[in-house]
Amino acid sequence: MATNQKIPFNKIIIFIFGLIGLTRSMPPPNPIQCNQIGCTLRNSYGVWGDRKDCHVSAAVYPATEDDLRSAVADANKNHFRVKVVSRFSHTIPKFACPTSPIGRNGSTILISTERYNTSIDVDVANRAVTADAGVGLRALIDRVEEEGLSLAAAPYWEGVSVGGVISTAAHGSSWWGKGGAVHDHVIGVRLIVAGKESEGFAKVLDLKSGDALFNAARVSLGMLGVISKVTFSLEPGFKRSITFNFTNDDGIEDEFMDHARKHEFGDIQWYPSKHTAVYRYDDRLPLNTSGDGVNDFLGFQSNFAIIAKSVRASEKAAESTRNVFAKCAMASSFLAYKKLTANGLKNNKLIFTGYPVIGHQGKMQTSGSCLYSPETNKDTTCPWDPRINGLFFFESTAIFPSTKFPDFIRDVKKLRDIIKPENLCGVDVYNGFLIRFVKKSEAFLGQSEDSVVVDFNYYRARESLTPRLNQDVWEEIEQMAFFKYGAKPHWGKNRKVAFLGVGKKYVDFGKFVGAKSVLDPESVFSSEWSDEILFGRKGGVKEDGCGLEGECVCSEDRHCSPGNGYFCREGRVYGEARVCRYSSSSLS
Ligand SMILES: Cc1cc2nc3c(=O)[nH]c(=O)nc-3n(C[C@H](O)[C@H](O)[C@H](O)COP(=O)(O)OP(=O)(O)OC[C@H]3O[C@@H](n4cnc5c(N)ncnc54)[C@H](O)[C@@H]3O)c2cc1C
Ligand SMILES: *[C@@H]1O[C@H](CO)[C@@H](O)[C@H](O)[C@H]1NC(C)=O
Ligand SMILES: *[C@@H]1O[C@H](CO)[C@@H](O)[C@H](O)[C@H]1NC(C)=O
Ligand SMILES: *[C@@H]1O[C@H](CO)[C@@H](O)[C@H](O)[C@H]1NC(C)=O
Ligand SMILES: *[C@@H]1O[C@H](CO)[C@@H](O)[C@H](O)[C@H]1NC(C)=O
Repeated sequence: MATNQKIPFNKIIIFIFGLIGLTRSMPPPNPIQCNQIGCTLRNSYGVWGDRKDCHVSAAVYPATEDDLRSAVADANKNHFRVKVVSRFSHTIPKFACPTSPIGRNGSTILISTERYNTSIDVDVANRAVTADAGVGLRALIDRVEEEGLSLAAAPYWEGVSVGGVISTAAHGSSWWGKGGAVHDHVIGVRLIVAGKESEGFAKVLDLKSGDALFNAARVSLGMLGVISKVTFSLEPGFKRSITFNFTNDDGIEDEFMDHARKHEFGDIQWYPSKHTAVYRYDDRLPLNTSGDGVNDFLGFQSNFAIIAKSVRASEKAAESTRNVFAKCAMASSFLAYKKLTANGLKNNKLIFTGYPVIGHQGKMQTSGSCLYSPETNKDTTCPWDPRINGLFFFESTAIFPSTKFPDFIRDVKKLRDIIKPENLCGVDVYNGFLIRFVKKSEAFLGQSEDSVVVDFNYYRARESLTPRLNQDVWEEIEQMAFFKYGAKPHWGKNRKVAFLGVGKKYVDFGKFVGAKSVLDPESVFSSEWSDEILFGRKGGVKEDGCGLEGECVCSEDRHCSPGNGYFCREGRVYGEARVCRYSSSSLS
């Protein structure tokens, strides 16, 4: 196996990150594209998990609540199927696609909240803000910070809308206060649902904490109706102090609880191939503390298209030559660069000069500088922008009850010992395993106990039938998480296998289904895809190669890629796992 590198990664990296901020970038593409025969919806990566395009009959762009209400009434009256989607469409699974082969009249409509984004109403006295569903998270945060208030929770990625972010239970990291999930800071949801003819085919519901349907509406996957407005509770403005401790990964399975209890916004990045854990010490400070830092997370900064392409080319070359050491070299360079730049923390808005970095909550929790700037400069963009053929990866996100998490970590370490650490370099090219904390929630599709969320990203081939280097490893870890330890899938991420049996994992799932039948008895807001994820597929056949992209768990070799030497085999640590593994000897 070749260990020499053709590409000087260090140079690329300095190039990648060094030029950031000097140029402008192009905003992400619009997820909805229409022509005379209809529209196509894509997610932000340009490809849905099942790779099938989402074709709809038409898209509408209401700008006011009245327009929104008429859109729902119209669709209901005409027996269309409807889904809502934001300007961003940053959800990886296909929840926003209304396609359905049966029922209703066959026509499908998308309601985009892109233009429904004007009102942000801050109620300073009651420390609350009510915003239109299409408002972007960044606009919301900036507005509340102007009033000296802070939203305590947000995902790390700011390219989301008010309606979308709560609908998939998106989260940051915290076991303190109301916790790290955004929906746990919601105190009101204004929802437009399908109505009877006597109600004008649509009605508006104002749901507040305490209302029976509130806990269904807070995390609803777009399945109940259209969220018009969301009210969040706020806290007096505050600052944060962040320090990253790059250390070894001994004992993370014992330390994570303590870490979450000691640090309000703590998280851990675990780079298993490097035996490295990065503890984020992240604490609240009073507003009058000095410091004007920002968290401009490296992974969400603009990249020159040419750089994202060359990183992708290196990754692809390592894949096709089956060279894990090339991946390890990439992972090492990236990790060194993250350490040098504190992952994008900047003390004075420009550069990192030393820990701790202290800044306003509004600048420290969430970021996404690759989202901005005019269409006119096409040099730089988000690294995964589908127009540039840059990064392309899977995101698996498993949510564990905190008591089960240590055994999962031990199993991954055991697997590492068996296969050797270099075979885990593929995830360390991205963010390793990102470990975050989400508190117990009353929302039916939220977490019923204090939980630990693990994200890991890994290479996805542009062609669905191309097997991936060490894919058996990621599959085994995925199946270990979701089946052995019963982890729940993040609604906004993951491959299809992660959703198998998901309904049984949520204790209040039945209550959500009950609320759906009350609020949407005609299934206006249902689709083939959301029904399949929630209620299971009826008598589906497993297609050839379905194991390669997590569309199925393999049970025969043809579900993998026998022609390329990938066969369906048992897991190494979790014996019940069935994974697509390369074997040169079985290749005839
Ligand atoms: C680069 C990246 C980083 C991410 N980082 C994080 C992270 O740190 N933490 C985390 O938890 N998640 C993260 N995510 C996932 C992301 O937060 C969620 O997928 C979020 O739901 C996306 O919001 P959106 O506004 O783009 O929603 P969309 O994708 O547009 O919609 C999401 C769902 O909500 C429904 N919906 C949207 N608007 C409405 C409405 N007004 N009424 C009813 N239903 C509606 C849609 O039908 C769909 O089912 C990340 C995603 C990406 C691409
Ligand atoms: C569905 O309804 C629309 C509008 O009423 C109509 O134009 C269309 O032909 C209908 N489609 C089917 C398959 O009935
Ligand atoms: C609404 O969206 C437009 C266009 O995307 C944007 O220019 C504007 O700033 C947004 N308004 C708010 C309040 O977010
Ligand atoms: C970093 O973490 C290690 C392991 O928990 C600890 O021993 C060390 O003191 C920490 N370093 C700093 C600077 O906090
Ligand atoms: C911040 O304010 C508090 C009380 O309002 C005060 O006790 C403290 O000294 C102030 N700290 C700084 C750094 O100004």
